Amino acid sequence: MNFHIMTLFPEMVMQGLDTSIIGRAMENGIIDIEAVNIRDYAFNKHNKVDDYIYGGGAGMLMQAEPVYLCYEAIAGRIKDKRGGEYKPRVIYLTPQGEVFSQKKAAELALEDDLILLCGHYEGIDERVLEEIVTDNISIGDYVLTGGELPAMIVVDAVSRLIPGVLGSDVSAEFESFHDNLLEYPQYSRPEVWHDKRVPEILLSGHHANIEKWRHEQSVIRTKQRRPDLLT
Ligand code: ADE
Repeated sequence: MNFHIMTLFPEMVMQGLDTSIIGRAMENGIIDIEAVNIRDYAFNKHNKVDDYIYGGGAGMLMQAEPVYLCYEAIAGRIKDKRGGEYKPRVIYLTPQGEVFSQKKAAELALEDDLILLCGHYEGIDERVLEEIVTDNISIGDYVLTGGELPAMIVVDAVSRLIPGVLGSDVSAEFESFHDNLLEYPQYSRPEVWHDKRVPEILLSGHHANIEKWRHEQSVIRTKQRRPDLLT
């Protein structure tokens, strides 16, 4: 999987992703992440990429042309690599998008290339969004200062579904949101901590009973914390 992140803050994105599990997956060549600076495609000598908003209103808007030139450069490289016509998936991170989910992450994990577009200021000129964006994604109903953190969240959630990124394939299978259930509680050593014992069943070695208990716990936890998932 190749992630191409269009951003005004490439260092922020790369520093955030270049550690731990995602960093190791990059090192091992399982995923590739490039952060492309939209400012490199500014078309004026001051490297300006924003301007006033037609009709008035507070703040500045990212202009269409630098975003489009940046997109064309990335899409051109993808086309050359694949040979022939291909319109890559372009995800615009915006509070106006579809709320990101495990299901969406699984769908995106099937792509070979993903372009992620991070907005700043008051947003991006609508005309370029109309031309290049295939998916609008929000990470939740709140407004951030830019699309970089949301892009990093999408890259992380998608990457860990790619075979070889996590240590073992099992870990992605039995976790929260699998079958729309939250994960059951888990315990490690010691057996007693702050007077709390590890549930006896987990020490029994009886795998069928443990599976049954875990499923029950998942249902209880989902009812308590996320009843919306059960409907
Ligand atoms: N940009 C600003 N806020 C955002 C959000 N909640 N989700 C995705 N992109 C955003």
